[in-house]
Amino acid sequence: MWRRAPSSPALRAASSRRWASSVASSHASSRALEQFMGKRLPTVGAGFSKEELIALEHDYGAHNYHPLPVVLSKGSGAYVFDTDGKRYFDCLSAYSAVNQGHCHPKIIGALTRQAQQMTLASRAFHTEQLGPFSRFVCEYFGYDRVLPMNTGVEAGETAIKLARRWAYTVKGVPDGEAKVIFAKGNFWGRTLNAISSSSDPVARKHFGPFCPGSELVGYGDSAALREMLRREPNVAAVMLEPIQGEAGIVVPPEGYLREVRELCTEHNVLFIADEVQTGLGRTGKRLALDHENVQADILLLGKALSGGVMPVSAVLASHEVMDVLTPGSHGSTFGGNPLGCAVATAALEVLRDEGLAENAHRQGVFLREGLKRLQQERPDVLADVRGKGLLIGMVINEASPIDAWSLCLKLMEAGLLAKPTHDTIVRLAPPLVITSEQAAQQLDILSAVIESV
Ligand SMILES: Cc1ncc(COP(=O)(O)O)c(C=O)c1O
Repeated sequence: MWRRAPSSPALRAASSRRWASSVASSHASSRALEQFMGKRLPTVGAGFSKEELIALEHDYGAHNYHPLPVVLSKGSGAYVFDTDGKRYFDCLSAYSAVNQGHCHPKIIGALTRQAQQMTLASRAFHTEQLGPFSRFVCEYFGYDRVLPMNTGVEAGETAIKLARRWAYTVKGVPDGEAKVIFAKGNFWGRTLNAISSSSDPVARKHFGPFCPGSELVGYGDSAALREMLRREPNVAAVMLEPIQGEAGIVVPPEGYLREVRELCTEHNVLFIADEVQTGLGRTGKRLALDHENVQADILLLGKALSGGVMPVSAVLASHEVMDVLTPGSHGSTFGGNPLGCAVATAALEVLRDEGLAENAHRQGVFLREGLKRLQQERPDVLADVRGKGLLIGMVINEASPIDAWSLCLKLMEAGLLAKPTHDTIVRLAPPLVITSEQAAQQLDILSAVIESV
């Protein structure tokens, strides 16, 4: 197991001196130097050792994550590089935010062009960017209206507010009585409402009291959903991930999403699809719902909507649903900002123009078939391989000689970065730009490491 990084007053003093001088020098002279010498200047962390950088995070940051002991400095396409220049395959893609690959030139081009023109105006004024982006994203996904936000969890909060207001003003649910049904194992972020509807004790412990208004039903169990909808007259919406990502790449039975759609229609309940992780090519289609030709009433997008460049999320819906909002009823200072609109437009164009969903399907089939063969050879290590497209879960056998965390450490040493989810599952989600050759190399690394166990 990784131990705490050593820390001392001396290290702290040295670190802060170096940090201050590196920041000062990069701020004071960067523009002039870059302009006249065309040179790359040191970034904020340049000049620190790997150990110092880990110690700084440890000493000054909250301990709400447990990162692998690697310090990344650069990313390019399917690769990331640590501070020593070692190259790794990124098989997490920042939890599927970097579908288009690290620092995609088209997206970075849009970012830098727009950053020099205008970054933020707030929604107090119209901007040149919001209208064209809104039309593009609505036409691309087949919805009437969009409400741009920033993070995925804000998209979820927005959807629930929309659904509640729709329930009171359109469906006729008595005020204050609306319910939203979630699936057990769901993950949609860390706000109080998100953990209130969560079934994960680690996410909830000592954070109560929780928000009312949610019910839980078994994921993939359409009979249980049917029964709950029959019993509960005040349901505003059912909110689901088409594949549960954080729960461990849980793929529901075929036909489930279509049945959810039909049940929602039958009971006059909105279907909210949380495609924050599964959308935008990740599962081998534009949206994971496309596998069953299903259209949700409210669609949530985030993460790769900006290619991992900045937080941009979006809630898409019909006129009927979105028009329940009136000026002042919802908003966000940064939501719909010009920079986000420019970046998200470029990020969607990259997905479309480079056929990334199709590539995710091709490389996903290759990787899963290879991993299934590996599972047959080493069932003592791999209990299951599942997923769709490039959202793949390797389930580690409970009796395996190696646990998921230690396996990820070995993979890291071998040049592939992946992260366990829920102790026994390793998620493989490389950027969708990986070539066949890179997928073969990834499979070689995975095979060599698993065979060596
Ligand atoms: C399905 C799903 N929804 C929502 C979120 C929350 O997104 P964010 O972390 O941007 O708030 C996540 C994050 O992992 C997610 O996987």
